[in-house]
Amino acid sequence: LAKHNKVAIFAVPGAFTPGCSKSHLPSFIDAQDELKSKGVDLTICIATNDAYVMEAWGRTSGGADGGIMFLSDGKDAELTRALGLSMGEGGVMVRSKRYSMIVDGKSGVVEKYFSADESSENTWAPSVLSKL
Ligand code: BEZ
Repeated sequence: LAKHNKVAIFAVPGAFTPGCSKSHLPSFIDAQDELKSKGVDLTICIATNDAYVMEAWGRTSGGADGGIMFLSDGKDAELTRALGLSMGEGGVMVRSKRYSMIVDGKSGVVEKYFSADESSENTWAPSVLSKL
């Protein structure tokens, strides 16, 4: 998906969880026009919930209609673990830490990375937009 595109990717600890539904996701829904005007072709939301949950969250939140692609990293949190961004190992489920990134698929480079280690707000769309 990223191969020929500039992609905004954001990952959340859980679909339908309060911080993700009330802040992180809506910030990217609201930012779609500005992201596109700044050259972002596609926004992808990732969580380790299964694909059915991600589809339902995308549909009921308005995020899918708002142009965001919802992807499941539900198969052993393979991507999340490969990125070294998993949490909750050994618990009810392996979750992704909250983060956002701008990926330039043409060069194959993660151009910008926004970690929640700094603050949750650092991963929200206004923070991303401020660096584009
Ligand atoms: C969070 O929104 O940060 C969160 C949600 C569910 C589990 C852990 C963290």
